[in-house]
Amino acid sequence: MGYKPDLTRDDVTPKSFYMNRRQIMAGAAGLAAGGFAAPALAQNGLDPNTFEEITNYNNYYEFGTGKEDPARYAHMLTVDPWSVVVDGLVDNPGTYSFADLTDGMTIEERIYRFRCVEAWSMVIPWNGFELNQLLEKVGVQSGAKYVAFETAYRPEEMPGVKFPVVEWPYVEGLRLDEAMHPLTLMATGLYGKEMPKQNGAPIRLVVPWKYGFKSIKSIVRISLVEDEPPTTWNKANPREYGFYSNVNPNVDHPRWSQATERVIGAGIFASRKDTLMFNGYEEQVASLYEGMDLSEYF
Ligand code: MTE
Repeated sequence: MGYKPDLTRDDVTPKSFYMNRRQIMAGAAGLAAGGFAAPALAQNGLDPNTFEEITNYNNYYEFGTGKEDPARYAHMLTVDPWSVVVDGLVDNPGTYSFADLTDGMTIEERIYRFRCVEAWSMVIPWNGFELNQLLEKVGVQSGAKYVAFETAYRPEEMPGVKFPVVEWPYVEGLRLDEAMHPLTLMATGLYGKEMPKQNGAPIRLVVPWKYGFKSIKSIVRISLVEDEPPTTWNKANPREYGFYSNVNPNVDHPRWSQATERVIGAGIFASRKDTLMFNGYEEQVASLYEGMDLSEYF
């Protein structure tokens, strides 16, 4: 549970770097002060997309299915006040305000590859804390094997939910060891700013080795459960979207190849880039899936 991998320079912000920087405590004041120095971005082996790219090309179907819809409509979402229900097999269940939930968490910058199942990708400099910190705070009980997440469902603020594109509210889940993995982030911002609404304000999940739809936005409930929880895209189309959905260039989507990806912002003449196993995080996460047939557990 306390396992820390030796993260390589190309995978996340170097540890020595983020350990040296000001450790910002979360909460309203911390977030307001959440500016990070620009050189941070150059020190990572990854080249982040621009803020404009990250905030204008989104999937957030509660605001519409077009890539530009979230940027246009997500301003309607009220994110302050915000509360998150933590329930199920935990020692400290309850309704936590955003400030209480993030109190005591160490906010770091993590520059991660982000690969959508639709075969486009970006590199995003998130700010957030490891989910395992939160799970330790709420006290996971021994019977818990999975973590289930739920997005806000607010018809009056979310123009997209009047369309039954998927079943609302959007729900996702992780196996407990995936949730405890140090790469798994609860993101509260990007580029040192509070999380833009179109990217899932005020708090969302980021699981960089899985297809982007696992990274559920605007979370209002976190439940520790015994059985594998239902997940939105698996319910919508179980043949195309599995519970695990680890990035895997060797297992194609039934309707398109997953071998390569279109890099957002690289220009229309840019060639596609090869997709990496576990989105480039194989060294850190492959051991979670030992003994599983990865072509079966998509
Ligand atoms: N979460 C909710 N609640 N609703 C969504 O439609 N889309 C998912 C994921 N989380 C989605 C969601 C998909 S398909 C992707 S690729 C990522 O969010 C996109 O995140 P981004 O817009 O911040 O790049």
